[in-house]
Amino acid sequence: MKVILKTILGFMLVVAIITGYAISAGTYNIAATDKHWLITEKLIEWMRNNSIAARANALEAPILEETEYLTIGATHYDAMCTICHLAPGQALTELAQGLYPQPPVFYQRKLPANTDAIETQTKAYFWIIKNGIKMTGMPAWGLTHDDETIWAMALFVQKLGNMSADQYQKLINKHSDSDDHEHKHEHAHSHQKNGYDSHHQNKNID
Ligand code: HEC
Repeated sequence: MKVILKTILGFMLVVAIITGYAISAGTYNIAATDKHWLITEKLIEWMRNNSIAARANALEAPILEETEYLTIGATHYDAMCTICHLAPGQALTELAQGLYPQPPVFYQRKLPANTDAIETQTKAYFWIIKNGIKMTGMPAWGLTHDDETIWAMALFVQKLGNMSADQYQKLINKHSDSDDHEHKHEHAHSHQKNGYDSHHQNKNID
């Protein structure tokens, strides 16, 4: 018994020394261009999904009017998300291309098959948009946005899958025409003026 225990401890010590040496020698390549092994990728995905489910499933999703969340969601999405997640008809941006892991392109996705799955996804999306995801480039928007705006975005991104570039443009324009401006992020709009909107010219290309 003692011999087995000593062997295991000895083995663990050797692994710890080799790992420590490998890390201090810079063996691990931290570059975004160096992809994970398939097993590492699967482990991260497993951990990510369980971590999100453990925190998101207990949330209560509010009931929002479709016209309301589409407009609020579209305005915020257009100002803050398209550079990574793209808008219907928009070509891949340089920023999105360089990210690892890759940001999902919502307009190329379809809704889950049933209402339960849609509800679970809405809660997960709300949690992700609010809290962000470590070491991926996905920011935590809850530091600067209230829950209602985040629920609107969580619902809106799921509508992108059935949306044409024209429908998307109409939603954006509808909001900028209206007087009851709810988007309080002047800085976000000014970002657009400073070059973020270069994609607007591409938006109608399918
Ligand atoms: C700087 C780039 C960047 C910006 C800006 C960004 N995201 Fe993300 N987002 C990512 C990346 C990268 C991922 C993938 C993370 C992963 O694989 O775990 C992601 C993941 C997500 C997911 C999870 C998708 C899924 O299938 O699990 C949602 C939802 C999301 N983002 C919504 C948004 C919204 C809404 C905005 C704007 C308010 C936004 N993101 C802005 C980079 C970004």
